[in-house]
Amino acid sequence: MAKITASVYTSHVPAIGAAMDLGKTKEDYWKPVFAGYDFSKQWMKDNKPDVIFLVYNDHATAFSLDMIPTFAIGTAAEYQPADEGWGPRPVPKVKGHPQLASHIAQSVIQQDFDLTIVNKMDVDHGLTVPLSLMCGELDPVKDAWPCPVIPFAVNVVQYPVPSGQRCFNLGQAIRKAVESFDEDLNVHIWGTGGMSHQLQGARAGLINRAWDNAWLDKLIADPAAAAATPHIDYVREAGSEGIELVMWLIARGAMSDVHGGKLTGLAPKLAHRFYHVPASNTAVGHLILENR
Ligand code: DHB
Ligand code: FE
Repeated sequence: MAKITASVYTSHVPAIGAAMDLGKTKEDYWKPVFAGYDFSKQWMKDNKPDVIFLVYNDHATAFSLDMIPTFAIGTAAEYQPADEGWGPRPVPKVKGHPQLASHIAQSVIQQDFDLTIVNKMDVDHGLTVPLSLMCGELDPVKDAWPCPVIPFAVNVVQYPVPSGQRCFNLGQAIRKAVESFDEDLNVHIWGTGGMSHQLQGARAGLINRAWDNAWLDKLIADPAAAAATPHIDYVREAGSEGIELVMWLIARGAMSDVHGGKLTGLAPKLAHRFYHVPASNTAVGHLILENR
C-alpha cells in the first residue's frame, strides 16, 4: 500500500530560482532565505520519498486565459521546465509517475472532485522553485530530481478560485486515493505558494507577518479553522497573491490526523518551521510535517 508519510509547505518566489541559477545564493540579501532550507535539504536526503505529489499553481504558463482548470492532475511520464520569458530554468526535467497519477485521478474523481487530466504540460516556477529549495542545485543534464513528481495544478490566478475548505476536503480524498494504491510507496505531499504578497495595484508590496504567522499556527494545530478562512480574508490580510495559500490546505488535509472537520489520532510532528521577509515581493514561509 502507498502511504503519505510527510507534507512540505513552501513559498515559490521566482527570484529564488533566479538567485540559484545565477549563483547569487551567498549574497547578503539571499543568505538568510537559503539558510532556512539547510535543514530541509538534509531532511530530504534522510527521508527520501518514492514520489512527491506536488500541489502548485501555474502562472498562465501552461494554461493561458483560454482555458483555466480549477484542479489539474499531471498524468504524463515527464514535464519540461517552462520558458517564463527568460528561457527555461536550467534544472533537470521532471519525471512523472503515470501509474500512481492515473490511480489518484480515478479515485478522486470517483470521490466527486472533478479533476482535469493533463497528459502534456510544461511546469513553471510554481513547481520548479520548491523542488530547487528542497533538493538544492542540480545539473540540468547530469543530475536528476530525487524521485518522480506528480504535478497537481490549482487555479489561484483567475477568479473564481476554489475555497480553502474545498482544498482541505480534496486533500483528504487524495490521501484515500494514495492509500488504495497497491504498491508500497513512500509519498510526500507538498503545498506551495504564498505567503503574504501582492504584486499589483495600490497595495503592491503588502506583507503581513502577524497574519502569516497566526495562519501557520492554525494550519499546524487547528487545520479545520485554517480551512474555514474565507477567501476574502486572504486577499484583505495577505494580499491578492496571498490566496496561493489555499494550496497548503490540500497538503494539510492529506495528513493522517484529519477526518472531516475533526482531528483524530496523533498530530503530525513539526519537523521544521521557517519564516523570512524579504524575498522579492513575498513573505517566505516553510514547514515540514511528519505523520506519526
Ligand atoms: C513573486 C511571487 C510569486 O508568487 C510569483 O508567482 C511571482 C513573483 C514575487 O515575490 O516577486
Ligand atoms: Fe506565485
